[in-house]
Amino acid sequence: MSQGTAVPQSGPRLKLKGVGKYFDHDHKKLAVLEGIDLEVEAGEFCCLVGPSGCGKSTLLNIVAGLEKPDEGLVWANPREVSGPGPDRVVIFQDLALFPWLDVWDNVDFGLKNLGLPAGERRARVLKYLQLVHLQEFLHARLHQLSGGMRQRVALARSLAMEPEILLMDEPFSALDPHTRERLQQELQDIWAATGATILFVTHGLKEAVALGDKVVLLTTRPGRIQAVERVDLPRPRSVDDAPVLSISRRLKAQIGNWVDPVSRQEERV
Ligand SMILES: Nc1ncnc2c1ncn2[C@@H]1O[C@H](COP(=O)(O)OP(=O)(O)OP(=O)(O)O)[C@@H](O)[C@H]1O
Ligand SMILES: [Mg+2]
Repeated sequence: MSQGTAVPQSGPRLKLKGVGKYFDHDHKKLAVLEGIDLEVEAGEFCCLVGPSGCGKSTLLNIVAGLEKPDEGLVWANPREVSGPGPDRVVIFQDLALFPWLDVWDNVDFGLKNLGLPAGERRARVLKYLQLVHLQEFLHARLHQLSGGMRQRVALARSLAMEPEILLMDEPFSALDPHTRERLQQELQDIWAATGATILFVTHGLKEAVALGDKVVLLTTRPGRIQAVERVDLPRPRSVDDAPVLSISRRLKAQIGNWVDPVSRQEERV
């Protein structure tokens, strides 16, 4: 990619133009993403939904600067993306927390790398651990926490970096439904409090409709954008709200052919 092309400051926070990605598989070229055009505005909550293997994590990694697209361009904040940066922080599918560090040090880790002074680091760690309701577990070890609490640590760690764009890769998929719904509520509160721009990947249509200002539906691999739906319902929303279910059902009918190639199951909406 060429360096330094800038989109106007007033434009979208994130812009993808004609992004394509191929991987080598069995000595053949595997098309994973094709012709992705996407814009996310500052402060917008954008959800990407698509079946397993359609390239969602790959797309997030491209925005994070961890993978390079084979076609197309990506701009963020408002520079052309040419590698990772503290303006774009990813919460990975498998969390990537450090089990040998306690809660506090997990959140502090990235701040040390940012080179922030000790006083500001302390203030930020405390602020974000309070925001995710972990103030009573500041020095707990990770094995002493539930799955939902570990997910909150990962969220606090990413938020503490105060990135322009938060990239979340199925952050709640490993949680039981009750914990997942609580965190969906909390994430909406946090998003409202921080004004973050969020790109959130999920398998779940209901989750996407409940959380997103915009829901982007990807096709099965190679992932292409099949539809973009604006969701203007009042917040906070829950996956059980009648309007959320009704939009999810309509989208489900639209994408009818979506069967998860791994589980061979369709999501119930
Ligand atoms: N580093 C890589 N090398 C080769 N192939 C890869 C690599 N990363 C991903 N792939 C392939 O690209 C495709 C898309 O993978 P990706 O992880 O982006 O899918 P996904 O939509 O996030 O799936 P899931 O919902 O299961 O997380 C898959 O077929 C995968 O095997
Ligand atoms: Mg994935």
